[in-house]
Amino acid sequence: TKNYEYILTSKPAEGVALITLNRPKALNALSTPLFTELNEALAELDADDSVGAFVLTGSGRAFAAGADIKEMKDKTYNEVYQNRFLEDWGKLTSVRKPIIAAVNGFALGGGCELALMCDIILAAPTATFGQPEINLGVIPGGGGTQRLARAIGKSRTMEITLTGRNFSAAEAAAWGMVSRVVPEGEGKVVEEAVAMAQTIASKGRLAVQAGKDAVNAAYEQTLREGLNTERRLFHGLFATQDQKEGMAAFAEKRKAVWKHA
Ligand code: CAA
Repeated sequence: TKNYEYILTSKPAEGVALITLNRPKALNALSTPLFTELNEALAELDADDSVGAFVLTGSGRAFAAGADIKEMKDKTYNEVYQNRFLEDWGKLTSVRKPIIAAVNGFALGGGCELALMCDIILAAPTATFGQPEINLGVIPGGGGTQRLARAIGKSRTMEITLTGRNFSAAEAAAWGMVSRVVPEGEGKVVEEAVAMAQTIASKGRLAVQAGKDAVNAAYEQTLREGLNTERRLFHGLFATQDQKEGMAAFAEKRKAVWKHA
């Protein structure tokens, strides 16, 4: 794929697109040009039929150490409000295909929020999470207070947001924010995330998309609405060839061959 300045893209396994944030000298601080590239790559690869799932990771000592403080520090209220500063970060959440965050090193501020915008989080033992914005005279602005509260509950989110203290991979796992901590070894967390993405990419794409949409409804809708959303998506899959194939294959004791149709 294309050459970017602040990110790297590759296809490390069948059906998998890997995006690596690549500003290691600035601990992958999420500048506007970096996020623009990230959104562009996600849009391009979301539309690429050879891709079924994404892995997003950092380089060097960080996943991402937050929004770019040097870029932000002189901005005025008028500027950030008029230009809807950070609003375009949300584009990542309308990507259709699952995104797995493989978090190595610092995931602070916007970096923690970026991980929380992904669908699955795997952490290296070195992963350090936090919302240190309070130390900069602000609060999280990329969804941190909302998504963290839904992921780890009110009391912990208040503590993290108001004290600005970091939390470890082990804490994130104990609190249910990450699926698991992948044991030691350079690049292990990325390897594991790529393997998981490959598994997801090997399923019927329409069912995967419906599954993602249904789980996301749990975070955006009431239980009644969410159950309706789930049931309608479930019903809708009976219009797909993959439902016929998947169930026929089970009955015939063979492996399903997905048409993604
Ligand atoms: N923005 C811009 N540059 C950053 C950065 C950020 N968020 N985080 C790190 N950097 C830069 C440093 O300025 C430094 O650059 P120079 O070499 O040019 O001085 C380089 O990355 C390496 O960082 P350090 O020398 O500070 O490395 P360290 O190991 O001593 O400390 C750290 C690591 C504790 C993560 C420290 O870098 C740090 O505190 N970073 C900022 C974390 C933060 O406050 N994040 C929240 C940002 S606000 C936000 O994200 C708003 C939002 O909700 C969207």
